[in-house]
Amino acid sequence: MMKRVMVILSLLLSFAPLTAQTVHPEVWPSLQPAVPRDARLEKRVDDLLRRMTLEEKAGQVIQASITSVKPEDIRTYHLGSVLNGGGGFPGAADGRNAKPKDYLALADAYYAASMDTSDGGQAIPIIWGSDAVHGHSNVVGATIFPHNIGLGATRNFDLIRRIGEITALEMNVTGIQWDFSPVVAVTRDDRWGRTYETYSEDPEIVRMAAAKVLEGLQGTPRTPAFLGRGKVVGCAKHFLGDGSTAGGKDQGDSVVSEEELRDVHAAGYLGALQSGVQTLMVSQNSWHGVELAASRAFLVDVLKGRFGFDGMLVGDWNVHGQIPGCSNGNCAAALNAGIDMFMVPDDWKALHGNIVAQVKSGEIPMARLDDAVRRILRVKMRAGLFTNVKPSQRPLGGDLRLFGSPAHRAVARQAVRESLVLLKNDGALPIRPNRNVLVAGDGAHNIPKQAGGWTVTWQGTGTTNEQFPGGSSIWDGIRAAVEGAGGRATLSADGKFETKPDVAVVVFGENPYAEWEGDRRTIVYDDPQSLLIVRRLRAAGVPVVSVFLSGRPLWVNRFLNDSNAFVAAWLPGSEGNGVADVLFTAPDGAVRHDFRGKLAFTWPKSPLQDEALFPFGFGLTYADRVSLPALPVDLTGVDPGRVFFSAGHVEPNELRVDAGVARQDEAGGRLVLAWPGGGRRAVFIEGKPVSLTLETNMGKALAMHVMVESRPTQPVSLSMGCGELCGGDVDVTSLLNGLPLNQWRTIHVPLRCFAAKGADMSRVTTPFRVSTEGAMTLRLADIELLAGTNTDCGR
Ligand code: BGC
Ligand code: BGC
Repeated sequence: MMKRVMVILSLLLSFAPLTAQTVHPEVWPSLQPAVPRDARLEKRVDDLLRRMTLEEKAGQVIQASITSVKPEDIRTYHLGSVLNGGGGFPGAADGRNAKPKDYLALADAYYAASMDTSDGGQAIPIIWGSDAVHGHSNVVGATIFPHNIGLGATRNFDLIRRIGEITALEMNVTGIQWDFSPVVAVTRDDRWGRTYETYSEDPEIVRMAAAKVLEGLQGTPRTPAFLGRGKVVGCAKHFLGDGSTAGGKDQGDSVVSEEELRDVHAAGYLGALQSGVQTLMVSQNSWHGVELAASRAFLVDVLKGRFGFDGMLVGDWNVHGQIPGCSNGNCAAALNAGIDMFMVPDDWKALHGNIVAQVKSGEIPMARLDDAVRRILRVKMRAGLFTNVKPSQRPLGGDLRLFGSPAHRAVARQAVRESLVLLKNDGALPIRPNRNVLVAGDGAHNIPKQAGGWTVTWQGTGTTNEQFPGGSSIWDGIRAAVEGAGGRATLSADGKFETKPDVAVVVFGENPYAEWEGDRRTIVYDDPQSLLIVRRLRAAGVPVVSVFLSGRPLWVNRFLNDSNAFVAAWLPGSEGNGVADVLFTAPDGAVRHDFRGKLAFTWPKSPLQDEALFPFGFGLTYADRVSLPALPVDLTGVDPGRVFFSAGHVEPNELRVDAGVARQDEAGGRLVLAWPGGGRRAVFIEGKPVSLTLETNMGKALAMHVMVESRPTQPVSLSMGCGELCGGDVDVTSLLNGLPLNQWRTIHVPLRCFAAKGADMSRVTTPFRVSTEGAMTLRLADIELLAGTNTDCGR
C-alpha cells in the first residue's frame, strides 16, 4: 500500500481555509451501540441526577490535575475526576520514583473525599485518568510495552488485546481506573511528533488494533468480564483527524476532505465503538480552521448521533481554552458543542464558578449540563465504581505481585521480538552467540531511549536505567545471550575496540520526545556521531548490524548503505532483551526466533516522503536473500528546513531576497540575512492570492522564529498584503529591539494588525515581507500562522 499523497509535505504553514467547511452527518455511517442500555442502571443515573445541585453537576464535569487539586477540594467542589498528566506524580519529592502504593494512597484519599456527604451532597465516586499508553507507563516498575508503532508492525491483534489486559491489571494495582488510550490516529505525515503513538498509516490496521486493545482494557461487551474485575475504562483519542494535519503539525489544522476524514481517519473509532469504548477524547486539532472542540457537528451530530455514542466525551488538556472566545477557566462553548468533561488541569476553580453562572444565565442550557453529567454517571456506574469500596480494597488494589511481573514482562518481550522489522541483511544476521560481539551506540545500554516519550516522565527524558527495575537494555539481552553461550560481549558506546570483534551491533536512533516537541521539519535522520561509528567499524572490516530506535520511519539511506544488516526496532520499551532473542541463534546455530514484523508505515526513499524505499507490508525474514543496491544519499535540492509555507497557494521555498541583501542558507533550513543599509530592501514570499479572512477573524497571528544578530539601524516593517505597494506594513522595530541578541525567539503579529494597516486579507499574495532602509542581520527559521496569540500590533 502506498503512503498516499504526501504533497503537502513541503509546507510548514498550515495555510488554511478559503471557506469554512460544512459537515454532512448524513454521509457518516450509522452504528448500533455495542453496549446495550441497562434500564435499571439508567434509572439509578436519573435518580441520582435529580438529587444533585447545580454546583455538584458543575463539579462532575470537571477533571483537574492531581498536582493542583487536594482531596478537600474534591469534597468542596464535588469534582468528577482527576488526572495525572505526563510528569504529574503523587506526593513524593522526587515523583519520578513514586511507588504504586503512593498512587493507591492518593486514589483512596480522593475517593474518600468524593464519597463524603457531610455537606449534604451526593456520594459520587471520583474517576482517575492516566496516560497508560504503552503499559502503565507513568509508574516506575511497570511493564513497558513497545509503543503502538511497534505493535502495528506485529500485526498480532491477539497480542495487542493481551497487552490491553495487562495494562488494565497493572493500573488496577495502583487504583487508577481510566486509561487515556489508545491513540487511534491514522498518521499521514511522519513528521508528526506523535507518530509513534499510532499503530499505522493504514486505517484497517488502526481499526483492528483499536478494537482489540479495548477488548483487553475494558473486556468484551455483553460478557460478564466487561468492565469487571481487573478492567479499566478506555479512551479512544484524539477525535478527530489528529493524524491528518497539514505538515504533520501537532494540534495543527487538517485540510483533508470530509470523505477522507470519514474513510481514513475515523477508522479507529469504528473499531473502538465496536468494542464498546466508554470514553473518547476531543482533539486539539482543527479541521479547515475550526477547532474540533467547538464542532457540534462532529461531536454531537456525527459522534453522539450517527455513531450512537452514549459514553462520555472528555476534552484534551485545556483544549476548550483554544476555542475562540474561551479561556482555560471559562468556556461555555465547549460544553455546548458536546464536550462532557473538561480536562482543566489547573484552572478548575474558575471554570466551576463560570459553569454555575452560565447555567444560571441560560448560556449553558441545563439540559445540556444534565446530559453531560448523565453520561459521566453512566460510565462510572458501568465501570462498577458505585460499589462503596475504595481503590485499595478493589480486586487487585495493591496486589504488587502483578505489577511488572515476570509473566507480564514475558508478553512485552514477545511483543519486542514480533515488532522488529528487518530491512536489510547481507548475511550478517543471525549471529551465533559464541562469537566475539561488540555492542556500540548511545542506544545500546539506554532504557529511557528505547522506551521513548510518555515513559515515567512526559517527554521520557530525565530518567536513567535506574527507573526501570526489572527491565533490560538491548545490551543486557545481548550480553546474556552471548555470555550464556561462551562467547564474548563488549559494550563500547563509541565503537572503539582492542581486539577486533567478529561482528558489531550498533544501536542508535531518536532521543525521547512527546507531542509537539517531537514535530520535525524533515524526516532526515541526522546523526553524524553514529554514522561515524558505523563507518569506522566497516572500514576496520567488522560486519555491522544496525539497530535503529525511532518513533517513525526516517530517511536513513546513509546508514543503510554502510550497514550489513539494518533492523527497525521502533521504541521497544522496558524489555530490551527481546532484541537479542531474534538477532542471535541458539548455540548450535539454529534460529530461535525469526523476524516477523512487517512495516505498518511506508519507509521513505527520499527526505520528502514521496517515494517508498520499503513499501507498506515490507519486512525480511531469515529465509530471504535480497541485496539492496546502494541508495542515493545526496541531499542537494532538498531544503532541509524549509523556511516557508504553502498549502498549494504560495509555493514552498519561495523566499525571495532583494538585491543587496546577503543570504546564506544554513543547515536545518535556517537563513542568515544581512541588510546592508542605504536603501529599502526586502525579504519576502510571493504567490497566488489566498484568502486569510477567516484566520484574521479567528485571531491568528503571523509568527516568525528569529534571532537578531545585529540590531536594525532604521525602522523595520513586517508586511502582509497584495504586493509591494498595497500591503499592510506593521512597524516591528521595537519588537526586534526587545529581543536579546543571538538568541532564538518567536515574534507574533496578529493578522488583524495587517488588516488595520490596509491589507486586503481576502487576497493575500505576499504573506510575509520584512523590509528596512537600514542595516541589520537576522537569522530566520519557521514562519507560520499561529492561533490565539493575543499580542498587540508590534509596539
Ligand atoms: C495529550 C493527551 C493526554 C493528555 C493528558 C494531552 O496533552 O494530548 O493525549 O491524554 O495530555 O496527559
Ligand atoms: C503534561 C502533559 C500534557 C502537556 C500539555 C504537560 O505538562 O504533563 O500530560 O499533555 O503538559 O501541555
